[in-house]
Amino acid sequence: MNVLVTGGAGYIGSHTCVELLEAGHTPIVVDNLCNSSEVSLRRVREITGKEVVFIRGDVRDEALLDQVMEQYRPACAIHFAGLKAVGESVEKPLAYYDNNLRSTLSLCRAMARAGVKRIIFSSSATVYSGDNEMPLGEDARTGGCTNPYGWTKYMCEQILRDAAKADPEWSVVLLRYFNPVGAHPSGLIGEAPNGIPNNLMPYISQTAIGRLPELRVFGNDYPTRDGTGVRDYIHVVDLAKGHVAAIRHLMEHTGEAVFNLGTGQGYSVLEMVEAFQRVNQVSVPYRIAPRRAGDLAVCYADPSKSARELGWKAELGLEDMCRDAWNWQKKNPNGYEA
Ligand code: NAD
Ligand code: UFG
Repeated sequence: MNVLVTGGAGYIGSHTCVELLEAGHTPIVVDNLCNSSEVSLRRVREITGKEVVFIRGDVRDEALLDQVMEQYRPACAIHFAGLKAVGESVEKPLAYYDNNLRSTLSLCRAMARAGVKRIIFSSSATVYSGDNEMPLGEDARTGGCTNPYGWTKYMCEQILRDAAKADPEWSVVLLRYFNPVGAHPSGLIGEAPNGIPNNLMPYISQTAIGRLPELRVFGNDYPTRDGTGVRDYIHVVDLAKGHVAAIRHLMEHTGEAVFNLGTGQGYSVLEMVEAFQRVNQVSVPYRIAPRRAGDLAVCYADPSKSARELGWKAELGLEDMCRDAWNWQKKNPNGYEA
């Protein structure tokens, strides 16, 4: 089955392409490479020995999407394309609303014109409001986002929910990712952030390899086991497999469904640093720094609905995440750049 994959050259998209190919699907990737490299898709071909179709272009370009629909007739779409840096979204809100909302609207219109009404959307745990009890079930309160990036996810969810309500032929699956980390075990694809990473795991890896001098641990006075922030880290290969499971659901149901993709297990920043050092036998120098604005103390999923209804659960653990992140970092110290 042909699956349109917007943003398929990116971190989560490239890992999902591997799992789609392994499951017998053909990914049709549309990506403008604004935050990725075509090399990732070459590596996907290397891992799987199978072909990925790649069209370089912007998802906001509806004429292009019409052509892609016409030529490849996908059965459904996975919409990864979007801008995702929280801090940058505060500085450039209009660019974030434009890219993330307009790409979703263009894609839905082009899909509707082609009669393709099945879509999986990359949402985020960031749509949950900060005042919920843990763990977060899919029916926890949403909204009250602390940055424009979070609002774009919240708004795109609403757009897709309303589209499914207005036309009973639509099938919409909203996947709320917790904290994706790690890389494909081959070390051929992984996370290649531009500039200084914002997220913990790439920051740890780049510190371990000596590209960055030390990790700053943002706050050790949270009400947690060791005072540092707790998150639900999920191996990107597990996350990618969650999309294959979601496609099965998408093809068998109509209407809207929301699923958490997380492990249900929270780890603190210091636990992550300790695990990375122990598993990889490397040193990660760090110092305690002030809290980062907008951070929650604790955030982790209740993934039981995904287990029940998608038949999916995360299988890889913290050691796999640390080992695979380091394997990718060592083999590709400059990401996809030679
Ligand atoms: P990424 O930046 O690696 O991938 C996004 C891809 O989309 C990139 O290849 C980029 O070039 C492409 N893109 C962006 N705007 C585009 C446009 N207008 N047209 C065509 N291509 C475009 O990010 P990722 O980590 O793989 O994230 C994928 C999706 O998952 C994003 O929507 C992100 O918001 C969401 N998400 C990510 C995380 C995370 O921690 N990585 C957590 C929750 C949700
Ligand atoms: N942290 C540090 N030092 C760093 C980076 C992070 O101590 O240099 C800490 C943070 O304070 C937090 C934890 O590590 O306690 C994880 O931080 P990340 O930035 O890796 O992840 P967040 O949970 O803040 O945010 C991520 C994505 C968001 C997404 C959110 C929920 O970056 O896009 O998960 O899915 F919205």
